[in-house]
Amino acid sequence: MTSPAEAFAPAHAGGGALATQADGLVKTYPKGVRALDGLTFGVHPGTVFALLGPNGAGKSTTVKILTTLAQADAGTASVAGLDVRARAAEVRHAIGVVAQRSGADPMATGRENLLLSGRIQGLRGSGLTRRADDLLSRFGLAGAAGRLVRTYSGGMRRRLDVAMGLINQPQVLFLDEPTAGLDPESRSAMWDEIGRLATADGLTILLTTHYLQEADRLADHVAIVDQGRVVAGGTPDELKGQLHGDAVHVELADHAQRGALLAALDGVPAVREVRMDGNHVSARADVGAAALPAVLAALENAGLPVRAATVARPSLDDVYLRHAGRRFADADQHPASTAGGPR
Ligand SMILES: Nc1ncnc2c1ncn2[C@@H]1O[C@H](COP(=O)(O)OP(=O)(O)OP(=O)(O)O)[C@@H](O)[C@H]1O
Ligand SMILES: [Mg+2]
Repeated sequence: MTSPAEAFAPAHAGGGALATQADGLVKTYPKGVRALDGLTFGVHPGTVFALLGPNGAGKSTTVKILTTLAQADAGTASVAGLDVRARAAEVRHAIGVVAQRSGADPMATGRENLLLSGRIQGLRGSGLTRRADDLLSRFGLAGAAGRLVRTYSGGMRRRLDVAMGLINQPQVLFLDEPTAGLDPESRSAMWDEIGRLATADGLTILLTTHYLQEADRLADHVAIVDQGRVVAGGTPDELKGQLHGDAVHVELADHAQRGALLAALDGVPAVREVRMDGNHVSARADVGAAALPAVLAALENAGLPVRAATVARPSLDDVYLRHAGRRFADADQHPASTAGGPR
């Protein structure tokens, strides 16, 4: 029988068992915050899977459940073929976890942190030291290995976090927001390293992110999560391919009535799927550059002055807009009220 997660998982040449699967996960925190609301997805071995969603979407909660740090109220999950609830200890040996907040001890050196994570995983002796030295040089930390972590830059700390997650040679690596807060250069270096882990080491990687570009660049498969549910899934190209034509975005100078806006654009035959979110109007057009002058003229004529206008190829942001009904950046600033409880 095909489970919902298998049905949802992307078609994959190798087929076979999923490296990670979540079926109908539900999690409600005290005070009624429903962090997960029937979350379902599957990850094939050796692929990079991104859970992409705004603040409060439920990404970290999902990672905590899959890595045995929290329990779901309903639904099932397995990692490396092991049920996370029934076989938690085995799951912990099969995985590496890089939490959203660094787990490294700032008052210990980089090498001490690595050795400690290895010992927690039951590793000892020369095998452990070799593995630690190998990871330190691989992540560009050999020179800083003897320094206290509190003297590390943000990028160095994050690289150490990933190295710590890899100490036990896991089958599945969980990266919760691996590049949040990093400068563009460190982010790009981290992307290269994550890409190498997947291709050279054949690791299965589940990462969470709220950077559309990160999901686009790294993931074989993306699940867009909003308010505890997967609202869209596919390869980045498949997701963008659901949208035909270009996106036309217009920022109005003043707040407009929805009816007036729709009436104004009704007469512009080239545009469709008009949406409005505050002062932001978006629509699709086969050839955005050709449609834009007509859109601007129609708005001007209707007494709706325009502050800015852009035309863009479909992006994951547009996919999110279509499924969640609001722009990604706005959702990040104002998480939906059902997902706005305490951390
Ligand atoms: N320990 C907790 N107690 C109560 N509510 C919580 C707790 N942890 C998370 N929540 C709430 O559950 C929802 C989902 O949180 P979660 O941390 O999983 O989101 P996220 O997608 O990881 O967000 P972010 O991008 O900000 O890290 C949010 O509304 C959050 O406030
Ligand atoms: Mg999070």
